[in-house]
Amino acid sequence: MEKLPQSRRKFITTLTLLLASGGLLVRYLTPRTSDKRRVLVSAAAADVPQNGALLFRNERLALMRDDTGFYALSLICTHLGCTVTVTEDDLSCPCHGSRFDRQGKVLTGPADRALVRMKVELRGDMVEVVG
Ligand code: FES
Repeated sequence: MEKLPQSRRKFITTLTLLLASGGLLVRYLTPRTSDKRRVLVSAAAADVPQNGALLFRNERLALMRDDTGFYALSLICTHLGCTVTVTEDDLSCPCHGSRFDRQGKVLTGPADRALVRMKVELRGDMVEVVG
């Protein structure tokens, strides 16, 4: 009978340690996500030409518009990182000649991956590219 309180104390201590270490483990293994919404660029929707692009050279991205709506592409070439230029028909890289269609898909290499598509949100009459 004398052992019972000590056993209970040991059980509670063990349980507390397990819960604490389990909590730390979950926190360590859970990827950090930020709820902060970061606006990379914004523009008035009316300023983005239909079937055209609005370029943000410092941010190296293009805000584009077609019949389906707005979208944004990173202008960082997926080959070695040069800045892609936007023409009327496609996007082309001046460094090694990769070409991409207006959706960012590879037309000719050496790049073998599409341009990164950025998230776009409409806020009133503004279009925002968020990261
Ligand atoms: S960096 Fe664009 S094709 Fe090489």
